Amino acid sequence: MMKSEVKTSLLDNMIGVGDSVLLEPLTEDTFLENLKNRFDHREIYTYIGSVVISVNPYRQLPIYTPDKVEEYRNRNFYELSPHIYALADEAYRSLRDQDKDQCILITGESGAGKTEASKLVMSYVAAVCGKGAEVNQVKEQLLQSNPVLEAFGNAKTMRNDNSSRFGKYMDIEFDFKGDPLGGVISNYLLEKSRVVKQPRGERNFHIFYQLLSGGSEDLLKQLKLEREFNQYNYLCLDSAKVNGVDDAANFRTVKNAMQIVGFMDDEVELVLEVVAAVLKLGNIEFKPESRVNGLDESRIQDKNELKEICELLGQDQAVLERAFSFRTVEAKQEKVSTTLNVAQAYYARDALAKNLYNRLFTWLVNRINESIKAQTKVRKKVMGVLDIYGFEIFENNSFEQFIINYCNEKLQQIFIELTLKEEQEEYIKEGIEWTHIEYFNNAIICELIENNTNGILAMLDEECLRPGTVTDETFLEKLNQICAVHERFESRMSKSSRFLNDTTLPHNCFRIQHYAGKVMYHVEGFVDKNNDLLYRDLSQAMWKTNHVLVKALFPEGNPAKMSLKRPPTAGSQFKASVATLMKNLQTKNPNYIRCIKPNDQKTPHVFTEALVCHQVRYLGLMENVRVRRAGYAFKQPYESCLERYKMLCSQTWPHWRQGARDGVKVLLTELQIPPEEFSYGRSKIFIRNPRTLFELEDLRKRRLEDLATLIQKIYRGWKCRTHFLLMKKSQITISAWTKRHFQRKKYLHLKSVTLIIQSYIRGWKARKLLRELKYQKLCEESATTIAAYWRGFQVRREYRKFFRANAGRKIYEFIVQRIMQKYFLELKKKLPSMSPTETTWPAQPYLFLDNTHTELKRIFHLWRCKKYRDQFTAQKRAIFEEKLEASELFKDKKALYANSVSQPFQGDYLEISKNPKYQKLTGAVEEKILLADVVNKINRANGKGAPRIFLLTQSNFFIADQKSGQIKSTIPVMDITSVSVSKQTDGLFAVHLKEGSTAAAKGDFLFTSDRLIEIITKLYRTIFFKTNQKINVEINNEFLVQFNQDKVCVKFIQGAQKNGNLPACKRKNNRLLEVTVP
Ligand SMILES: Nc1ncnc2c1ncn2[C@@H]1O[C@H](COP(=O)(O)OP(=O)(O)OP(=O)(O)O)[C@@H](O)[C@H]1O
Ligand SMILES: [Mg+2]
Repeated sequence: MMKSEVKTSLLDNMIGVGDSVLLEPLTEDTFLENLKNRFDHREIYTYIGSVVISVNPYRQLPIYTPDKVEEYRNRNFYELSPHIYALADEAYRSLRDQDKDQCILITGESGAGKTEASKLVMSYVAAVCGKGAEVNQVKEQLLQSNPVLEAFGNAKTMRNDNSSRFGKYMDIEFDFKGDPLGGVISNYLLEKSRVVKQPRGERNFHIFYQLLSGGSEDLLKQLKLEREFNQYNYLCLDSAKVNGVDDAANFRTVKNAMQIVGFMDDEVELVLEVVAAVLKLGNIEFKPESRVNGLDESRIQDKNELKEICELLGQDQAVLERAFSFRTVEAKQEKVSTTLNVAQAYYARDALAKNLYNRLFTWLVNRINESIKAQTKVRKKVMGVLDIYGFEIFENNSFEQFIINYCNEKLQQIFIELTLKEEQEEYIKEGIEWTHIEYFNNAIICELIENNTNGILAMLDEECLRPGTVTDETFLEKLNQICAVHERFESRMSKSSRFLNDTTLPHNCFRIQHYAGKVMYHVEGFVDKNNDLLYRDLSQAMWKTNHVLVKALFPEGNPAKMSLKRPPTAGSQFKASVATLMKNLQTKNPNYIRCIKPNDQKTPHVFTEALVCHQVRYLGLMENVRVRRAGYAFKQPYESCLERYKMLCSQTWPHWRQGARDGVKVLLTELQIPPEEFSYGRSKIFIRNPRTLFELEDLRKRRLEDLATLIQKIYRGWKCRTHFLLMKKSQITISAWTKRHFQRKKYLHLKSVTLIIQSYIRGWKARKLLRELKYQKLCEESATTIAAYWRGFQVRREYRKFFRANAGRKIYEFIVQRIMQKYFLELKKKLPSMSPTETTWPAQPYLFLDNTHTELKRIFHLWRCKKYRDQFTAQKRAIFEEKLEASELFKDKKALYANSVSQPFQGDYLEISKNPKYQKLTGAVEEKILLADVVNKINRANGKGAPRIFLLTQSNFFIADQKSGQIKSTIPVMDITSVSVSKQTDGLFAVHLKEGSTAAAKGDFLFTSDRLIEIITKLYRTIFFKTNQKINVEINNEFLVQFNQDKVCVKFIQGAQKNGNLPACKRKNNRLLEVTVP
């Protein structure tokens, strides 16, 4: 098949017919042909409805890969070609989704592949169920319990190299999600006789070979073992090596598995010590020894082995030796010890070995259970996997085969009960039209074996418990008596003459016609094996060891717990446990895997038709197919059917109020399922074709998805709506609060504003009123006041003349007038002289006239001065004015001033108009001469003085020669800008001229004169009259003059007197003219 192709039906690319129900025509031949055809094409699985037939391929097929697991995962049973995975998946999903406990019943004869099938189922379930660290550990432990149990419980037999020599039922427990929680293993009757003896060509349990091959040198030394198999009596030598089996590697696997399952290192050690002890027990040999009293006794031949065993188990050698030599029987509080002969000693040895091993095996199972036990107490879903030893027919069949085959009978029984009988009976009960299909019911064989009164097991028990000599022969005799009439029982000794001449049936045998064939059982050992006798001395000896494990294995050896009661026989124990198992299986939903062995040679590609045909017959497969073909694939009570599919129809969903049957009818009609596809029973609906069921399941699955979406939708809607409503409610609350808040704020604002306005208005009104009232009051008061004043005035006017107060005032005024009069008259008398310089003034007579007195003094002085001034002529006034001007210009500024005060300004000192010498000069000057005097003109170049006439008129001043009266320079007063003098007593002065004027051609003039004060005052006044401007008079000890182009500094220094009071001028340099002042 191409990888991209997807299989949707088991009909796709089918080899033969995948489901035998579809075989046409259906005969045994076509059935076998179909199986063979498929087997030849590597299709080892074939269905009969839901039952899987598995034909052992005896080779590894590539059909168990992880891809295959994925392919079959969550697919419908009939979707893909038949496979054990499809069954496992169906069972697991039914367990997980429908909460139905499951059991996988794997049947078939020895070597048919049951154990392999059980492992495949377990590994598939492990692969598809939940994941996670914890879950994975549980899975690992469950899976790894297999190699451990196989090592100790499986052995090579003639029919199977890995034959299970014990029955195993494993419950795997799951939680509600389908995750594995743990498991419980039940074991059934280990074939312990194999420990001490194996049929030809077979082997002891694998563990012995594995230990010897795989154990390290140290380990073997520690266990006191030799590596060679031939060293041990208990190991069958002719098939010690099995082809394709690596015991050493398997030993490592087992040890590893034990570790994973949870065995502690010391526990593994203890287990191996017991295994070694069992092996070594076989090497203990006895020799006869005759005693005087004629009783046979035995002795251990070589005590070395015994010693080693005792060392291994921490045992006192003497105790064990005694236990091998004596047997103590207790009866009525008496202890009787008898010696054991050689045969008894061997029996005791083997019994001990078998018991030791058997108990070890049970301990192992319990220990594993402890590890894989589910850790929670929650309700568990259970999937049971039953892998029991297959039906076997050996050359020499003994008690074990009898028990094994009985177990297989019981399983066949349960198969018949559930698939053939019950199903057919149900059709009839449910009123479905049905033609009965014949099949062989093996209940009769089960009855022969297990009947409580006359069943073979009951007989055996009876025989074992009977006092007196009991042998296997007496047991056979009993059987012959009781069971001879049974149609399925054959015996030579039987009264029935049928087998008297049957030479194939030896005398010490009986034969049972099992459902799977006739099996001849040798009675030898039946009684012993059923009794399972272990001498008490041995169990007590075992209890006494220091070996923890061995001690625990023999609790009955404890003298304190000693009981005289016989333990239940092996047969009855097995019967009871099988009964429990059957009950357990009946409560679960069965899934069948029917294994078929294609050949006896354990080889691939060989399909021995006769052998397969035999198995097909005894397994009742043909009947199975027929019942399936005639019947219905699926049945279900109406209630559960309606409950499961009611969502597929609008009328039944979500509630159907009427009967469930009507509901199912409505449902199926609505779904338009063809009427031939189903039948209505009394309480159940029967669906013919699995395909219909799968269709329903598919519809349901899709509908469930829709419903999930719907629920999700409604839930989301609800959630959103609730959320929305909550938000809306919240929004309303918030907005209500906000509105309230704002309205309140607004209201409060309005209120406060109103209050303010109100208060203002009230205030204003009140004030207005107050004003009015005040005004009114004021008017009233004013009127009253006016009236009062008026009246007062009138009264006062009328009565004033009568007031004494007025007299005081008049007197006062009179006195003041008199005083003033007297003051003035006296002042007149005492007036000082009229001289303006007079400063005296009469003393003040009255204090209150102080200001008047001072004022009068001032006024009198002013008047006196006026009178004085009034005496002066205009000429004199002019002289005083000039003096006043001089005082303003120089007083306190130039030291020379003081000298000038007392000298009157004469002006014309030269009497120029009278002096004929100056006639010419006066002729030249037209104007009135204001000043004429001789001054020293300072030479600009050397500072030397030369006398010159200085003449001032109203417009000019002139410099003329003193002798000739010749005018040297005429300078308009308007060209004079300023005058400079020193602060000192000297008479030097500089006349500064306007720059650029004709007079200024030679520069400023420097003169000296004793009448400097008068000259400058007059010059100043003349210029003022002429120009109405006051020239600057600079009074400084250092000033600049302009000579020609140079600015020369005139500097006054204190020096010795040279020529009278005149200063000595000296031109120092271009810039400096030094004037020495005395
Ligand atoms: N599906 C399979 N694929 C490959 N080999 C298989 C398969 N089934 C069985 N075998 C082979 O057949 C042998 C016997 O199978 P298995 O041990 O399962 O038989 P059994 O039915 O358990 O026998 P018994 O009753 O003796 O225990 C296996 O060891 C294996 O070699
Ligand atoms: Mg097996």
